[in-house]
Amino acid sequence: MPYRLAPLYCRPWTLAGLSARLIESHYEVNYGGAVARLNAITEELATLAPTATSAVAINRLKRDELIALNSTLLHELYFASLGGDGRAVPQAMAEAFDRDFGSVVRWQDEFSALGQAIAGGSGWVLLTYLPRDGRLLNQVGGDHGQSIAGGIPILALDMYEHAYHIDFGANAAAYIAAFLRNIDWKAVQGRYLDAQRAPRPSQLEQPEFAGVPAIAPEEVKAMLESGAPVQIIDVRPRHYAAKTHEIMERAVWRDPDRVQEWIGELSKSEPVVTFCVYGFHVGCQTATALREAGFDARYMAGGHHAWKAIKGKTKLFA
Ligand SMILES: [Fe+2]
Repeated sequence: MPYRLAPLYCRPWTLAGLSARLIESHYEVNYGGAVARLNAITEELATLAPTATSAVAINRLKRDELIALNSTLLHELYFASLGGDGRAVPQAMAEAFDRDFGSVVRWQDEFSALGQAIAGGSGWVLLTYLPRDGRLLNQVGGDHGQSIAGGIPILALDMYEHAYHIDFGANAAAYIAAFLRNIDWKAVQGRYLDAQRAPRPSQLEQPEFAGVPAIAPEEVKAMLESGAPVQIIDVRPRHYAAKTHEIMERAVWRDPDRVQEWIGELSKSEPVVTFCVYGFHVGCQTATALREAGFDARYMAGGHHAWKAIKGKTKLFA
């Protein structure tokens, strides 16, 4: 089924400082063109025989499809971003800007500066919600093909020259100011609230260790840097430890199969952090055994390799 053109969301005659001629040209020529290209590419993809088509040709078509699809989606968001008075930022948006940018003004300064930064070239400035971290961020997209993986754009500023040259010539700053004066904040907030309902990407779950508290490697690093007392036990299995050459700088290695032999060395008055290679089982099992013996023990999520991934210090393991 072909992609259908969406009706123009904003009412051009209500916009302040953006002419109906500009919006109509943008909608008909550029948005309409993107939908037409998208449909042509989709049809071509549907009719070709994948096994009889060269890799170069199919790769080019899929890239063109991504660009045309993103251009279509972002233009729809752009027109749906306009039609308000740009002034009254509703409460949920204002709170989100305070949380993620410091203030509404700070957000607007950054958003405008990003527009200025790509003026004269082309691209998009997007306000995007990231379910992974539950936060908003501004993004520049150098062409239609770029967007934050997993992000949900909720406000789009089109910085292609076709979006403003009819009214503003090369005066991108005046165009950005006019765009800001026409933002439909009620609609933006509606999209923000919808986006917040998108589930966070699934995280690693280990139901068998649900009751064992974890500590992130970043927290362990912060504890060490602050000088807080902590006992760190590397419990990578013996067969693994035998062939490795490095160990976390502040850790001691102990055999996870012989917990009872070394448990007496530990102090119950200081917290214990255990870790294994990747953080799946051994570190968790050891933390469980220590907790059952009355220690304040946690396992370090991600294990030895997570420690290295955050550039934690290691030393030679002889
Ligand atoms: Fe455009």
